[in-house]
Amino acid sequence: MDSPKVRVLLVDDEGIVQEVLGKLLSDAGYHMKGVGTVKDAYRVLKKESFHVILLDLMLPDGGGLDVLQRIKEKDPGQPVILITAYGSIETSVQAMKLGAYDFITKPFKNDEVLLVLRHAARQKSLPEGNRKLGKDLMTRDRFHDIVGKSKPMQEVYGLIEQVTSSRTTVLIQGESGTGKELIAQAIHQAGNRAEQPFVVVHSGTMPSDLLESNLFGHVRGAFTGAVAHKKGLFEVAEKGSIFFDEISTVPADVQAKLLRVIQEKEFLPLGAVKTIKVDVRILAATNLDLLEMVRRGEFREDLYYRLNVININLPPLRDRIQDLPLLVEHFLVKYSQENGKGPLRFTPRALRALLTFSWPGNIRELENVVERAVVLSTKTRLNLDLLPEAVRAGAPQIQGIEAIGLDEALDRYETELILETLKRAHGVQRKAAKILGVKPSTLNEKIKRLGIRH
Ligand SMILES: Nc1ncnc2c1ncn2[C@@H]1O[C@H](COP(=O)(O)OP(=O)(O)OP(=O)(O)O)[C@@H](O)[C@H]1O
Ligand SMILES: [Mg+2]
Repeated sequence: MDSPKVRVLLVDDEGIVQEVLGKLLSDAGYHMKGVGTVKDAYRVLKKESFHVILLDLMLPDGGGLDVLQRIKEKDPGQPVILITAYGSIETSVQAMKLGAYDFITKPFKNDEVLLVLRHAARQKSLPEGNRKLGKDLMTRDRFHDIVGKSKPMQEVYGLIEQVTSSRTTVLIQGESGTGKELIAQAIHQAGNRAEQPFVVVHSGTMPSDLLESNLFGHVRGAFTGAVAHKKGLFEVAEKGSIFFDEISTVPADVQAKLLRVIQEKEFLPLGAVKTIKVDVRILAATNLDLLEMVRRGEFREDLYYRLNVININLPPLRDRIQDLPLLVEHFLVKYSQENGKGPLRFTPRALRALLTFSWPGNIRELENVVERAVVLSTKTRLNLDLLPEAVRAGAPQIQGIEAIGLDEALDRYETELILETLKRAHGVQRKAAKILGVKPSTLNEKIKRLGIRH
């Protein structure tokens, strides 16, 4: 089992906690050191290092959150488990955002403490390299299988990096086709669960009892037709991640059970008398406004907060159109290989049409359009005629084939310049116009003509 060399620092001022945990940990073979104040914690941490730090949120001479923040600044890879009073969801959510590995609530259950500790301790022994990825993120144009170098995507990459070393739940929001599932996979792949299962739950229109038995399994004889024990998806996903494809479709009674899995890290299969412990990371996606559903009483508020510890908001493609050329390139390579065709390229006019289209179906729609063009192509240059009518409609009418190259080049240069300037001007058009040395009305016209969205 656990190596006796695993060192744990407990920062808690309650004598009883020190006593109980001290005994529990030493029985389990850990080496524990206990302190009762922030001051002492810093003093000890200056001289010694620990695999895991157990930190109470309320200390006599300060707040645990500040201590957490300071520890994380010094060593972002240091696993810290927060000890919170029962029911203080907001604080624990904040703690997870600050990088806590996990939290346990008082009064705690021994096996829960040991489970969380065991996983956290494993974290610290991770090779350094695993955690250093974040450094040169700002120059990335892709991350795992995700393509994109726009600012919103850089932020997404940063968030993925931030959550890899914890078990936090993540809520991914975005319109249909924006890549929610891809992001969920990347979170799974980037963390230390990569070798473990990634299970996707499409709850869709599934009736709640079926969904429940799918998720939690059932024992033999739990209901008519339950002739054998069936493992639920949570068991299948053990040590891995489970991804709820559209969390808003989960019915109320299953929502309650889900909350319990998140809080207690255990569940009860249908018809069973004994709960099963699980260590599964929960990821969820939605293309609805979940908070609005909470307000309308259609989604549990407590579950929402538990899921929304880290929120990844995927902007629609039209709001990060800078990424389109890269995405097009990516899909061109993918589908020309798949179809045994040589290197293919869109003509500037076709690319222009792609850039001006509004992409209501986002990246999935773009991918389909590119695939279609590749399949239909007979030449290495893909022209407008290979694009669907709706996409073509946005293409500017240009006469004289010679002019296309220059026009296109100028427009693209202008588009980039304007976008860049708008960014510098924090989106204030009037300011951007000043920087560019044109009248606000001129800039406005250009923005409209070039189909720039910012
Ligand atoms: N940034 C990206 N880079 C490369 N491919 C992407 C990107 N985003 C999405 N895709 C691709 O687009 C398609 C749709 O993505 P995905 O299924 O993850 O979207 P979704 O948000 O889950 O959609 P829905 O809401 O319809 O379920 C997939 O084939 C995915 O690989
Ligand atoms: Mg999806």
